[in-house]
Amino acid sequence: MRIGILGSGLMGGKLGTIFARAGHDVVFSYAHSKEKLKRLARDAGGNARAGTPAEAAHNADAVLLAVNWPRMDDVLKKAGDLSGKVIVTCSLPLNDANTELVVAHKSSGAEQLATKTGAHVVAAFQTVPSEVLFDVFEGRDNATRPSMVYCGSHESAKKVAAALIRDAGFDPVDAGSLRIARYTEPFALLIGQLAYEGNEGPELAYRFERFVR
Ligand SMILES: NC(=O)c1ccc[n+]([C@@H]2O[C@H](COP(=O)([O-])OP(=O)(O)OC[C@H]3O[C@@H](n4cnc5c(N)ncnc54)[C@H](OP(=O)(O)O)[C@@H]3O)[C@@H](O)[C@H]2O)c1
Repeated sequence: MRIGILGSGLMGGKLGTIFARAGHDVVFSYAHSKEKLKRLARDAGGNARAGTPAEAAHNADAVLLAVNWPRMDDVLKKAGDLSGKVIVTCSLPLNDANTELVVAHKSSGAEQLATKTGAHVVAAFQTVPSEVLFDVFEGRDNATRPSMVYCGSHESAKKVAAALIRDAGFDPVDAGSLRIARYTEPFALLIGQLAYEGNEGPELAYRFERFVR
């Protein structure tokens, strides 16, 4: 797939690298310097390059949205028209201090993005600390994979997201329609707060157990 990365920081930089190494065409965009984007593309190898947000979004089969919430309007403006595109968002609607949700509980950041852009939005990768991404990718051939919840209301967009989740080394768990992001976003914040409690990087992870009758 052609994947445009909007926001090439901890999440976007790592996920873009993983997608490139999984064989996708990746355009890294939106960082403070073009040099950083070029370095990311060079280090990712494969078919990765640096570009503008508009170049990343143009002809993309999927756009990964990985910016801090206060930057959202700016990056969307620079990306241009995203209506009808697949957006996979790992962005959480947090305040400047990254401590509180600014959209909850009767809506979600993912739903607001869908309304704002007219895109087919899937919320994914929100519940995972960026520090574990490379380890999960490297362990993708292990017999068991960590679970990754995702949600969205557009079936073919969800298939795209599930393929990317699988390529990143996770087992995708379909949590339902996009409105389920009202629950997964606070859950992601809780996981983040617990994981980083020690201030020395993530100290815990979680997994789901399925109880089948
Ligand atoms: N980090 C995690 O473990 C994690 C986990 C789950 C969800 N999330 C969510 O994912 C989203 C991204 O998080 P992150 O940790 O990846 O954030 P981040 O590392 O700060 O990345 C944000 C990106 O936006 C760029 N940026 C910020 N301001 C800019 C500006 N004025 N002009 C151009 N580029 C600008 C940054 O550029 P530079 O690279 O040059 O700074 C960076 O590439 C957030 O909504 C967060 O809540 C993060």
